[in-house]
Amino acid sequence: MMMSANTNAQELLWTPASWRNKPIQQAPTYPDMQAFAEAEATLAQNPPLVFAGEVRQLKHRLAQVSRGEAFLLQGGDCAESFKEFSAVKIRDTFRVILQMAVILTFAGQVPVVKVGRMAGQFAKPRSSDFETREGVSLPSFRGDIINDIAFTPEARNPNPSRMVQGYHQSAATLNLLRAFSQGGYADLHEVHRWTLEFISGDPLSERYTTLADRISDCLGFMAACGLTSEVSPAIRETEFYVSHEALLLPYEEHLTRIDSTSGDYYACSGHMVWIGYRTAQLDGAHIEFLRGVQNPIGLKVGTGTDVEGLLKLCDVLNPKNEAGRLTLISRMGADNVESHLPKLIQAIQKEGKQVVWSCDPMHGNTHTAQSGYKTRSFEAILAEVKRFFAVHKAEGSHAGGVHFELTGQNVTECVGGLSEVTDALLGERYETACDPRLNAHQSLELAFLLAEYLRG
Ligand code: PEP
Ligand code: CO
Repeated sequence: MMMSANTNAQELLWTPASWRNKPIQQAPTYPDMQAFAEAEATLAQNPPLVFAGEVRQLKHRLAQVSRGEAFLLQGGDCAESFKEFSAVKIRDTFRVILQMAVILTFAGQVPVVKVGRMAGQFAKPRSSDFETREGVSLPSFRGDIINDIAFTPEARNPNPSRMVQGYHQSAATLNLLRAFSQGGYADLHEVHRWTLEFISGDPLSERYTTLADRISDCLGFMAACGLTSEVSPAIRETEFYVSHEALLLPYEEHLTRIDSTSGDYYACSGHMVWIGYRTAQLDGAHIEFLRGVQNPIGLKVGTGTDVEGLLKLCDVLNPKNEAGRLTLISRMGADNVESHLPKLIQAIQKEGKQVVWSCDPMHGNTHTAQSGYKTRSFEAILAEVKRFFAVHKAEGSHAGGVHFELTGQNVTECVGGLSEVTDALLGERYETACDPRLNAHQSLELAFLLAEYLRG
């Protein structure tokens, strides 16, 4: 009896470093341990990137999403990059997310909780540890926070000082996002004006005019009632949160801090962090780390997720069954939603688990085009979201949100949509550091189509 009580106590003992005693997937091997220790010490000394109070506010918002009182919109780069870091890129991604949020708010008639895949979305899981080109094998690129994409032995060596660079880039990104959110850039009227510009400049988008005009009418009505930017912070400002996959655990550990108001641990690298599909082992290091921080967390679920395993993960990650704590991000692939999602939803409902259900229609819909580029089709992305909504409706569950890889830039990475990016065009502006993203046009179009679907 004593033995098992002790073992249990040990198992339950959590510290920011307890993940180190667990088997870990997807972890780089740093050749220079001295440099690694120095980078760890620097991170530990640096200020947190987010404040626990903001993190709690997001959890509160996500609790509303879990009850169907709000909708989650999460999006941004697959992988942020050191080279592509600029104010313009941050601004344009922020802008397209806000535009989508306005359209979805109107369609769903509920507030939209906006969460960027930004300010920390650097580390990438890879299906293979090595990449081979013309007979030469080198360690795979794992994201700029770990190594460099160039195909040379030096570049591919994991370099711990990149964690510090990632931290600083995240701090600068977050600083600008906070300024945009609070400083007047996110004014609802401005956001809608950009959307009108997008439509008027493009004959193909004319079919969205009706919906956009109705939003204009609403804004006009509100202004006439005295709800203007000058008097109303709700129109002038916005809440914007940041998130990333908590993959690189030394980085996460050293940015984990005790919140002095509650005495609890928070991952202060971002407001929301999620567990990737490849690192969701019940007894693994990533689950161990995330169970102990109080942030809202995401968990990717896919065709390989079974009911029993999912319920166990819910127990470990959300033992108090707190609403807003856990977001299940379904990434099935358009053709697998109907066969795999219902049983997961039914089990969650039967066990009374409080979760947000969100749909990532990107990661199950990747294929290699004839041109050799990794791509995704707009139609498959749209189909997965629609089926996700339909399945939730049939099960009497809330389809709480969507999760996209997108950019505000005019890239050519996903095929389809009105702008008609074709396979042959992919090479023109294929700029992603990892997976193919929706461009600004495709993102807005998707928001309009979802809005039509939700209202219809
Ligand atoms: C991602 O979100 O970029 C990702 C790698 O997703 P998943 O873990 O679902 O494959
Ligand atoms: Co991705």
